Amino acid sequence: MPAKPAPAKPAAPARRGFLYVMFCTWFGLAWTAFTAAMAGMTFGTLRFMFPNVLSEPPSKVKVGFPVDFEEGKVTDRFKEQNMWVIRYQGKIYALSTTCTHLGCTPNWLEAAQKFKCPCHGSGFYITGVNFEGPAPRPLERWSIGIGDDGQLVVDKSKKFQKELGQWSDPDSFVTV
Ligand code: FES
Repeated sequence: MPAKPAPAKPAAPARRGFLYVMFCTWFGLAWTAFTAAMAGMTFGTLRFMFPNVLSEPPSKVKVGFPVDFEEGKVTDRFKEQNMWVIRYQGKIYALSTTCTHLGCTPNWLEAAQKFKCPCHGSGFYITGVNFEGPAPRPLERWSIGIGDDGQLVVDKSKKFQKELGQWSDPDSFVTV
């Protein structure tokens, strides 16, 4: 009677061998590092090709009709949009709310009739001209004009600086 063949040994699972090669040999480690670097580069390239879109607020803002602004008053309701709209001595102009010292936002103090910066104490007249504290120059003015519908339009893409003689530019105020 012929002898029965011995049963074959079960083969080691192929997966175990693959993991051993990839994580326990120099070749495997180098290959894993290379693959990770390539994946990182691909991800970086994709981020470059599809950047996050920043939606900037529009630079032109309608602020109302000239009659909406009272003589000698500072309109504070556009402060979040970096401007005060002011009617003073027959002109309407839009002042930037950025302090010319280090960029803080001053407050309009109605009783004292001045802008006062809370950071280092600079003071500005209603015209925007600095008169106390470390601010080296007046507040800046934005471009302002009348739109087709008769409303005032402030354009923050264009600014005017008094020390450069730009406040006499007709785009820096509206005569009323
Ligand atoms: S930032 Fe306004 S006084 Fe310094």
